[in-house]
Amino acid sequence: MHKRAVAPSVLSMDYSDTGASLDMLENSQADWLHFDVMDGHFVPNLTFGPDILKGMRKKFSGVLDVHLMTTDPARWVGPFRKAGADLITFHTEALNNNPDAVNALLEEIRSQGLRAGFSVKPGTPIEGFASCLPHADLVLVMSVEPGFGGQSFMEDQLDKVRWLADQRNSRDLDYRIEIDGGINENTWPQAVQAGVDTLVAGSWLFSGNLESKTTAMLHE
Ligand code: DX5
Ligand code: ZN
Repeated sequence: MHKRAVAPSVLSMDYSDTGASLDMLENSQADWLHFDVMDGHFVPNLTFGPDILKGMRKKFSGVLDVHLMTTDPARWVGPFRKAGADLITFHTEALNNNPDAVNALLEEIRSQGLRAGFSVKPGTPIEGFASCLPHADLVLVMSVEPGFGGQSFMEDQLDKVRWLADQRNSRDLDYRIEIDGGINENTWPQAVQAGVDTLVAGSWLFSGNLESKTTAMLHE
């Protein structure tokens, strides 16, 4: 069993005062930071590149969890490693859902000294990636269509979480199970119940008291 982790999504951070926001995150109980990289092609939105991560690395000592929503994930591994990423997750859809290609990129990320994860969009079945599980440090289940914060949680995606937890148990594997999208006070307990150990939260977590919400997610 992995220790539960909360990964605030910097997509919802207050960019009018970035330094103060990062200080608040560094001093919170959240020891992960989720960094959404969108290229305007794989998803219809554009966010941040490695230079921004490099700046955040100076102020955040926890796990920098990079979520690549890009059409060419292999290209970005080196730049984000140099910028200070700890873990890089990419989408299977960017590799035509080819499990051999997924395995090759997971191993490439690991060979660069990072932890490696893969993610599936809501419409992509997970069972085709059974052969990838021994190569992954984390599997990210998207509970919204990637691209934007503030969408509603897709409860049916919890079937993937249950399948991942079952595979991990029956095959004696040890990847983390992360969920991303629509996490709030009603949905995080459902996700944990299904087997999630790593909770990404954006719009809900940053509206109101981040510290008390994080404490609840970690300890309740
Ligand atoms: C969506 C991103 C998420 C997003 C989640 O594509 O991958 O990380 O920030 O935001 P909320 O928690 O608001 O759904
Ligand atoms: Zn994300």
